[in-house]
Amino acid sequence: MKNKKLFLLILVALTTLSYGYTRSQDSAKRKQPAKFQHTPYAEKACKRCHASEIPNGKDLVTEVPGLCHNCHEKFLGDFAHSPTSLGECLLCHNAHESEHRSLLSEKEPELCYLCHDQLERKMTNEQNSTHSPAVDGCSVCHNPHTSDVSSKLLKKQVRLLCTECHLEEGITLPVAIDAVGYQHKPVVTERSCLHCHAPHATFFENHLRAEPLDLCFNCHNKEIITSDGVSLANIEELLKSNKIHHGPIKEKNCSGCHSPHGSDFYRILLDEYPKDFYTDIYDENNYKLCFTCHESTLLQDRETTTLTNFRDGHINLHYLHVNKPEKGRTCRACHEVHASNHFNHIRDSVPFGKIKWPLQLKYREQYTDINSGKPCTPSNSSCIKSGGSCVACHDRKFYNNIKEE
Ligand code: HEC
Ligand code: HEC
Ligand code: HEC
Ligand code: HEC
Ligand code: HEC
Ligand code: HEC
Ligand code: HEC
Ligand code: HEC
Ligand code: HEC
Ligand code: HEC
Ligand code: HEC
Ligand code: HEC
Repeated sequence: MKNKKLFLLILVALTTLSYGYTRSQDSAKRKQPAKFQHTPYAEKACKRCHASEIPNGKDLVTEVPGLCHNCHEKFLGDFAHSPTSLGECLLCHNAHESEHRSLLSEKEPELCYLCHDQLERKMTNEQNSTHSPAVDGCSVCHNPHTSDVSSKLLKKQVRLLCTECHLEEGITLPVAIDAVGYQHKPVVTERSCLHCHAPHATFFENHLRAEPLDLCFNCHNKEIITSDGVSLANIEELLKSNKIHHGPIKEKNCSGCHSPHGSDFYRILLDEYPKDFYTDIYDENNYKLCFTCHESTLLQDRETTTLTNFRDGHINLHYLHVNKPEKGRTCRACHEVHASNHFNHIRDSVPFGKIKWPLQLKYREQYTDINSGKPCTPSNSSCIKSGGSCVACHDRKFYNNIKEE
């Protein structure tokens, strides 16, 4: 505490000194009035502030800040900015005139950097990318005097503050936060955008506070019970215990499938994906999410020898399981979308029914020696993958995708 006071005193002394210096220089070369004039000064109402006939700095009718509050209301917000509550109006303002708007003694952000040098270092660190409104100034977002909203002297609640600009043309958010069908909870809490974004400068792309994946794991490193009582898996743990990661996850790109700001699709996905275990009518459009990156043709024809490897000879088992007029099994019946321990992201088990009974697949890969046509272990080069088998919903059923018919 003592240190903080001392620190402030030194800063105040230094700034006053340099302020005095620039001002006397200004007076010396002053021929024309500065760009911005304080109204009572311009109106030559010297007596409103000075007691003597020939005004000087030591004859004020009231000490600052009392002098200023003769005409300007006191700043009474719940959270006060230290120099303002200490009455140091003249640290930031000139009493008579200034080249800067609001009679500022220095333009922003330099004015603020006089004391907030730590932030200045962050903003000028070349490794960081800076948020343009913070390059241009500070009081677009902050009130330099007081705030009713936050101890960080914000002008508005975070979400309002940020979306005011970001719902404009050109720098829009991909989604209108309030209008989406599925909101991502952190976005609509008080800290909102600040959970994930830094307002001034950061090392990471998109002004994120951390690598996207680490960012998500700040919260998804545990099971989360949603507001409607559903439990969401601990994704960090899931990725740790399942070594084979899906393509986009290998690239640390959760946003390849999810919109962190909320979306109109189940689980804040970027596109359609069925919510339920079964679908009652097959429509390619229900799986648009998967088909932004994969060929939808894997489900297209009842018979094929090319479109998919999930086939028994020419019988397309993707088609057989999924492409059905009723009770079509969704991809989740067999695939784990984030990570699994099996080839092709086949899952160990899938939650089934209301009680989420872990229905086991007991998937096994099948290998065949191309020379002998006999089952083999995949250690020599003539041994290739030829199919697999599951128990799951039926007795163990095998498929062989290299057999000739
Ligand atoms: C709104 C209040 C206000 C008005 C109006 C005002 N002054 Fe001042 N003036 C001040 C304050 C406050 C200081 C002291 C600044 C400081 O201590 O750094 C000051 C300082 C001065 C000084 C000494 C420092 C310097 O800038 O050279 C002179 C001379 C002065 N005023 C002249 C005038 C004259 C002449 C007028 C009328 C044309 C006038 N002032 C109008 C508030 C005012
Ligand atoms: C005699 C009355 C009076 C006193 C005393 C006075 N002001 Fe003002 N001030 C005004 C008026 C009038 C305006 C113009 C108001 C407007 O445009 O709404 C003004 C405007 C301002 C502005 C805004 C300027 C702009 O360009 O937007 C600032 C900043 C300001 N005053 C600071 C101060 C400070 C700091 C003090 C104390 C050193 C002070 N005033 C003392 C009357 C006064
Ligand atoms: C830390 C710097 C700082 C201090 C200290 C400070 N101001 Fe300001 N003031 C500003 C800035 C920056 C603006 C412009 C705000 C904006 O553009 O939103 C401003 C604007 C103003 C305005 C005009 C607009 C408004 O918000 O009403 C007045 C009047 C004013 N200040 C008076 C004062 C008085 C009186 C004090 C001392 C009690 C004071 N200021 C202390 C930085 C400061
Ligand atoms: C004369 C020194 C000084 C100047 C100039 C100054 N500040 Fe401050 N500011 C402080 C001090 C001291 C604190 C309290 C720091 C703390 O709590 O650790 C503070 C706190 C803040 C806070 C709250 C931060 C927190 O950690 O809670 C914000 C936001 C802020 N200032 C913004 C500004 C802006 C914007 C400007 C320029 C318009 C500015 N400051 C100019 C001294 C200054
Ligand atoms: C786009 C809006 C925005 C702009 C522009 C902005 N800030 Fe901030 N600032 C914030 C928000 C939001 C927070 C709260 C951050 C948090 O709570 O994690 C904050 C926090 C702060 C803090 C306290 C925490 C810290 O990071 O030290 C200071 C000091 C501060 N700002 C000063 C400034 C200064 C000085 C400028 C101008 C160079 C500036 N801000 C420009 C939005 C902004
Ligand atoms: C005064 C207008 C304004 C405000 C307020 C504002 N921004 Fe920005 N923001 C911009 C502009 C302009 C850009 C584009 C230039 C840039 O990247 O700095 C931008 C860029 C961004 C980007 C990066 C976009 C990209 O395509 O790389 C993010 C993320 C962002 N802002 C988040 C925020 C958050 C969070 C807040 C609230 C704390 C906020 N913004 C408040 C104007 C604003
Ligand atoms: C849960 C974390 C999280 C929250 C909360 C969050 N964002 Fe983002 N935001 C991200 C991620 C991750 C990206 C980059 C990935 C992407 O493209 O969607 C991003 C990207 C952005 C972009 C750049 C978008 C583009 O496509 O160029 C803007 C602008 C942005 N966010 C603004 C905001 C605003 C404003 C808020 C608060 C209303 C907010 N964000 C809340 C995580 C978040
Ligand atoms: C600040 C904490 C936090 C961060 C950071 C965070 N989340 Fe969340 N997320 C939550 C909470 C809390 C829920 C549960 C929401 C509810 O109650 O409905 C959730 C829910 C979700 C859901 C399920 C949504 C639904 O509608 O069921 C997905 C998917 C998700 N988050 C993905 C992400 C991704 C991807 C990231 C990183 C870009 C991320 N989250 C970052 C807190 C967070
Ligand atoms: C390839 C697309 C894809 C990627 C990449 C992806 N997800 Fe998902 N995620 C989904 C789908 C699809 C669901 C819905 C699964 C279901 O209900 O069967 C989901 C569900 C979730 C859920 C809810 C889990 C539950 O138990 O219901 C969370 C939380 C989540 N994802 C977070 C993340 C995070 C964090 C990342 C990045 C590490 C990520 N996702 C990457 C597609 C993806
Ligand atoms: C953002 C792009 C993207 C989306 C969306 C996506 N995937 Fe993938 N997926 C990939 C990439 C890239 C690979 C290849 C990974 C590799 O080679 O390591 C892959 C691999 C797979 C594999 C393993 C087979 C192979 O070709 O390697 C399966 C199975 C799979 N995805 C299923 C799905 C399902 C089901 C969905 C929808 C829920 C989905 N994917 C959505 C990008 C995506
Ligand atoms: C009944 C289980 C099951 C269902 C349901 C299922 N798959 Fe598969 N899928 C598999 C198996 C088994 C393989 C591995 C085939 C092999 O041996 O190469 C596979 C392979 C894949 C591949 C790799 C390329 C290929 O076709 O061989 C992709 C991509 C894929 N599935 C996507 C999907 C998508 C998207 C859905 C939902 C629309 C889906 N799967 C539904 C079992 C299933
Ligand atoms: C959700 C239940 C379910 C799961 C999980 C499931 N199947 Fe099936 N499977 C069926 C049903 C039902 C049939 C009968 C065919 C039909 O629907 O007409 C079938 C048929 C088959 C057939 C026989 C096709 C024929 O010609 O008779 C094979 C082979 C097969 N499944 C393999 C698999 C493999 C491999 C897996 C694991 C990756 C798997 N199944 C997972 C429900 C399932």
